[in-house]
Parts: sequence; C-alpha cells; structure tokens
Amino acid sequence: MRPLIVANWKCNPKSLAEAKKLFNVIKKTKAIICPPYPYLHMGNPKSEIRNSKLGAQDCFWEQEGAFTGEISPKMLKDLGCKYVIIGHSERRKYFNETDEMVNKKLLAAFEARLKPILCIGEKEGEEMDLVVKNQLLKGLKNIGNIQMRDLIIAYEPVWAIGTGNPCKPEDAIKAASFIRNILTKLYNKKLAEETLIIYGGSVDSKIARDYIKAGFDGLLVGGASLNAKEFRKIVKNA
Ligand code: PGA
Repeated sequence: MRPLIVANWKCNPKSLAEAKKLFNVIKKTKAIICPPYPYLHMGNPKSEIRNSKLGAQDCFWEQEGAFTGEISPKMLKDLGCKYVIIGHSERRKYFNETDEMVNKKLLAAFEARLKPILCIGEKEGEEMDLVVKNQLLKGLKNIGNIQMRDLIIAYEPVWAIGTGNPCKPEDAIKAASFIRNILTKLYNKKLAEETLIIYGGSVDSKIARDYIKAGFDGLLVGGASLNAKEFRKIVKNA
C-alpha cells in the first residue's frame, strides 16, 4: 500500500495567495493536505486541491450551537474534508487540551464521518510507554471496533517536532509496536493490526523513506510541507 503522507501546515502561510501557490505545486501528490481553516474552501471538489485529500488541523466536539469561535466536524465534512488531526501536541501545549477533550473530539469526528488522525507522543524526559498508554486509554474511551476502522494514529514524540532532531526510525518503530500492542488488547486483533500508524517529527526528504522501511504506514509532515519542492520529494521518496 502507498504510504499515507499528511501535510500539516499549522498556522501558515500568512495569505491566501501564498496558500494557493503552495497548493498549485503540491496538488498532484495525492498527499493529505491540512491547511488552516480559512483556506479549506480550496477543498471544494472544483478547486485546486481536488487531486489531493483535504484535512483540518482540529475540530470542536459539538456539531453546532453557541460556541463562539469553534468549528464543528460536520462543517468540516460539508467543506470537503475527509480527515481531521486531533490532539496535536501544540494544541495540548498552547490550548491546554486534555485527553478527555481529545476523546470528545474523536467521538464527534467519527459522528461526522471524518477520519481522525490522533496524535500521541511523549515530551523530552518522559517515558514513552507510560505517556502513550495513558493517551490511548483515555483518548479512545468509548470508541468501538466500527469507529476504529477509520482511525489513524500519529506517533509524534514532542521533542522531535519542529526541532530538526527526528526520533530514529528504529526507536520510533518500537513505539509503534507498543501502540499496536495496546490496540490489540482493546480491539479485535485484525483491526488492531490494520490500524494505520504514521510517524511525525522533523521529517524531511532525506529520511522519509527510512520510516516507511522501518514499518510505518505513513508520515505527518509539518515544517517541510511548507516547502513545495521538498514536500514533493518527501512524497516521491517515501
Ligand atoms: P515537523 O512537525 O515536521 O515540523 O516536526 C510535525 C508535526 O507537528 O506534525
């Protein structure tokens, strides 16, 4: 199977004109592009991004109502999104997102028929297994076998994100096996084996392939996804 490559643009670029420029270069890659909300309308089937797949970087846990400033999963679905990143470490750090909030967002995303990309991973100095187990057990509460089919898990050690210091593929894949082991205890074995687990954290075109060779199902790319040429190389090399 072709590796699943996800571009997480974070809060970039500053203008629609720049966003369109970037779209135009990467639209043929078939990667999943997760731009900021104001650029999601480009995901309209008639627009630039039609060859790629569209995702959002977050969503709220209610579908509608008096929640000023929030964006609901059903709105994202209606705009053409297929995917949504949930629980990214930057949301946990800057917006105090807890595993309980992550769980509510996951349930709402499934309800809207989006495929959530759940981000988990330890901070510098933390024990990977303790953190990841806790994030999984709390984050996946009340999520059953049927919903699990659409879940993607991104192992992103926080210390490797945006630092230029990626986690070595041989270490990262140990974390992926640990994650799969936990899934095997929570879900039916086949599903646990088939759940896509991708890696994120300072991936560039030189190392992208190493993670796929090690056994990852794809990559979540932040910084390098803003450089169209480099991102195309990542997709090609992976
Ligand atoms: P990075 O970000 O590639 O810039 O390290 C990855 C992410 O935050 O998903």
